[in-house]
Amino acid sequence: MTIEMSRVATEATDSPFGARLAELLTTRSFGRSLRWLESVTSTNTLATEWAEGDAEDGAIICAELQTAGRGRFQRSWVAERGENLTFSVILFPGLAADRLGMISIAFAVAVASTLQQSCGLKGVEIKWPNDILVEGRKICGMLQESAFPSGRGRKRVVVGIGLNVNQSAFSPDVAENATSIKLASGREFDRVELLAALLGEMESLYHALHTGKESTVRARYEARLSALGRRVSFVRLSSGKIASGVVTGIDRQGGLVVSTPNGKETVFAGEVSFRTEAPRG
Ligand code: BTN
Repeated sequence: MTIEMSRVATEATDSPFGARLAELLTTRSFGRSLRWLESVTSTNTLATEWAEGDAEDGAIICAELQTAGRGRFQRSWVAERGENLTFSVILFPGLAADRLGMISIAFAVAVASTLQQSCGLKGVEIKWPNDILVEGRKICGMLQESAFPSGRGRKRVVVGIGLNVNQSAFSPDVAENATSIKLASGREFDRVELLAALLGEMESLYHALHTGKESTVRARYEARLSALGRRVSFVRLSSGKIASGVVTGIDRQGGLVVSTPNGKETVFAGEVSFRTEAPRG
């Protein structure tokens, strides 16, 4: 057990946020087990440790500050202390291994819907696979980390979500491409109320994946997919060759389906890079 984990145990009981969240939650399991911490390295790192111990399905770790927040492709995730939502959800999904990618796809839909319904934001789109954009600027990122321990360990997934809520300025390197709910809407939001609404949406979409409704999740995702119907080019890392085609949607694993002269090809994060070549229309 690390020093961080022992801090988890003591700080969580004192958190006023946790008590309020418990009152506002409408979920069955998401957020019912909660650790809300003042400062951590990365909620994903702590959540992974907790998942190896006694965590329950749907348990979450929230932090006011991350000192080593992690993004996709080894990038860092930086967010102002106390202004945003930075949290990780621990899951023990009853899904086949090749469907686990659909979890953060479903959560992208949940974040986008919450931003529209609870915050009244317009122009909310998803940049494949799971960046959320408002008017073309990134407002939320996700980092899904899955583990399949050998032996008797449980198959576990940690999804970390960084949602910019009340932050009103960003560092010069990201300022042009980043936004927050406050910047997009002109007002501040109660983070605990927002988290309660978001967890409700996330649980409902996660449930849909377990009850044969993946196609509904995919359809809702595609309706917000910024690249849908656009021509994209991508590098096949296996051959190093560039291919291009038009995005037609996502497949059952969450891969991006591109119609190319060779037929339909599926692009998976980490295997290829892609860029939008031309606007839709
Ligand atoms: C990305 O856009 O590259 C993903 C960003 C994910 C950031 C969140 S914040 C909470 C959780 N803890 C982390 O260290 N990362 C994720």
